[in-house]
Amino acid sequence: MAEFVLYDYHSISEQEQRERATAFYELCRCRRTVREFSDRPVAQEVLELILKTAGTAPSGANKQPWRFVVVTDPEVKREIRAAAEGVEREAYEHRMPQEWLDDLAVLGTDWHKEFLETAPALIVVFSILYTQDGGRIRKNYYVKESVGIAAGFLLAAIHNAGLVALTHTPSPMDFLQKIMQRPENEKPFLLIPVGYPKEGVKVPDIHRKSIQEIVLWK
Ligand SMILES: Cc1cc2nc3c(=O)[nH]c(=O)nc-3n(C[C@H](O)[C@H](O)[C@H](O)COP(=O)(O)O)c2cc1C
Repeated sequence: MAEFVLYDYHSISEQEQRERATAFYELCRCRRTVREFSDRPVAQEVLELILKTAGTAPSGANKQPWRFVVVTDPEVKREIRAAAEGVEREAYEHRMPQEWLDDLAVLGTDWHKEFLETAPALIVVFSILYTQDGGRIRKNYYVKESVGIAAGFLLAAIHNAGLVALTHTPSPMDFLQKIMQRPENEKPFLLIPVGYPKEGVKVPDIHRKSIQEIVLWK
């Protein structure tokens, strides 16, 4: 049975809309993926607020089909790095077609994943494919879309908090399900090291598409 509450909507002027939209764009424009981290720890309270923000994302039928596992234990980070480097080495040396390797060349990435140990926290994002209610399986809907949106909120919140992140997708990722001891219905989606950049860190000199390239007005 649907029940409704009054939406807490705060109207703002067009001038304020412009100012806020500009400020948010200026903030997001400066976000970059960082692949070299300092080992400076991040306050747990800040991480919690960032994760709470991710949890405000919309989701198919409000199923909120996400789980975030935060790893700060150096032993576990070492285990994750070893497993990730194993699959990534295999991918870079044997599995990725030349076209993919060419596309990655501008980023300067390879199978070495030192950041998985240096970053103070690794957020492992899981998709929850279904839940079990007694003996009954309850499906989640639009899981990829929902978890993708939550991950977007997460990355924006990390950047807003003055921290940096790397969206990492070691392939295949099932080792994370085993190391994190997650059940069968939870599948790893992204591995996101979070922290502070290494001093003087450099990022690839790549460019974003212009608004004309990405938007059509009809
Ligand atoms: C779904 C997804 C998967 C990614 N996987 C990796 C990855 O495994 N390793 C990596 O170094 N960067 C990865 N990236 C980061 C992209 O390379 C990066 O976002 C892109 O080059 C644009 O750079 P920017 O984030 O600095 O704007 C991934 C990004 C996304 C969205």
